[in-house]
Amino acid sequence: MSNPPAQRVLSRSLFIHVPFCARKCSYCAFYSEASDGDTVHRYVAALVREMEWIAPEVRPKTIFFGGGTPSLLTLQQWTVILEAMQRLNLSDAAEWTVECNPATVSADKARLLRDGGVNRISMGVQSLDEALLDRLGRVHSREMVFKSFDILRQAGFDNVNLDLMFAIPGQSLRAWQDTLTEALALGSEHLSTYEVIYEEDTPLFHQLQAGEIDVDEDLACAMYEELVERAANAGFTQYEVANFARDRKLPNGGERPTFNIQPSTFNVHSPAIPLLACRHNVNYWRGGSFHGLGPSATSYVGGVRTKNRSNTRLYCEQIEAGRRATESSEQLSPLARAGETAAFGLRMVAGWPFEEFRRATGHDLREGWSEEMRQLAGRGWGRLAPDGFQLTPQGLRFADAAAELFLR
Ligand SMILES: C[S@@+](CC[C@H](N)C(=O)[O-])C[C@H]1O[C@@H](n2cnc3c(N)ncnc32)[C@H](O)[C@@H]1O
Ligand code: SF4
Repeated sequence: MSNPPAQRVLSRSLFIHVPFCARKCSYCAFYSEASDGDTVHRYVAALVREMEWIAPEVRPKTIFFGGGTPSLLTLQQWTVILEAMQRLNLSDAAEWTVECNPATVSADKARLLRDGGVNRISMGVQSLDEALLDRLGRVHSREMVFKSFDILRQAGFDNVNLDLMFAIPGQSLRAWQDTLTEALALGSEHLSTYEVIYEEDTPLFHQLQAGEIDVDEDLACAMYEELVERAANAGFTQYEVANFARDRKLPNGGERPTFNIQPSTFNVHSPAIPLLACRHNVNYWRGGSFHGLGPSATSYVGGVRTKNRSNTRLYCEQIEAGRRATESSEQLSPLARAGETAAFGLRMVAGWPFEEFRRATGHDLREGWSEEMRQLAGRGWGRLAPDGFQLTPQGLRFADAAAELFLR
């Protein structure tokens, strides 16, 4: 009897969108809704079914549960998901992140996730100023951040990211410095720090349109400079516009390297990428393939980008009827995809080694994009070397504008 044909593994990255939040924050445009018990239950069942469909073609080295608020799922719902992942051989990843809101972390849940194979937590802190947390519509208090961080450490998490936001309306430089001081003192392994984006159709956007908010670009620049300097002094390496990581664990975070995924996993050979960088996101920025499950999740597999329905009820209905919940699908031309990959990758401090870009896209940056690279170098935003191109610190501050030049 011959063996069944081996399934082709199409990606090594798995993203799962959990579309529920206790309450919508005033700035957030990610797809999520206030949860009710029945919908969450239905979502979990549909998600497991979707996992069963894609399991043969993905052997994840990285898994990322994002949202929404994955930590809002109950112990019982997490148990169903973790057991399904185990059964489907999806849980043996080197890096497995779950996003948590500090208001929804409990010791039982942290232990369940850790025992189930999760080895990285990303916590949405945003600010440690009580008035600004209110302004952002967050459900958590500053005390919950410290308490949750302790719970995570006690459960054995030695790779924790903190999300922070700056240029929040009403935030002074002093308030940002204070949040940075307290956040850095926690001793996390990773920091993601985002300047507020006024996303259309959010309450914050409407306040901006109504003239209720003054945007101060100079203050935002000063905050970014403060961040870069303070993070470096605290032992972080910046490896992307908004991302900072340590190269090794702090002694109080446990020195044993349970996290052992090397840059070469995604053909990234750069000393500018620290050991504790988020490998899942590095794969995005380097143009790698990934499977995305859950409402509104995107996938990029075999050169085709698909997006699931951004409506949890429709997502569940489709899957319950035995159909994929795809809302759109597009095959980008190789040149358009290369342009996108160039733009994403430039967000990384390492920029693009030419050889690596060629391996990832089949194109040569020096042929299709030499004028753009010269232009950025002339403006002081880029650095052109014989073997690669990268943005300067000044260019990184305006990475979105710089990256746009590379799109085709
Ligand atoms: C999808 S959220 C998930 C985290 C989790 N739901 C939480 O908020 O606790 C990821 C991060 O994106 C950032 N973010 C979301 N909307 C933003 C916006 N409009 N401007 C800047 N940063 C934003 C926040 O720092 C947030 O923690
Ligand atoms: S920032 Fe996080 S908690 Fe707030 S609405 Fe967005 S996904 Fe939900």
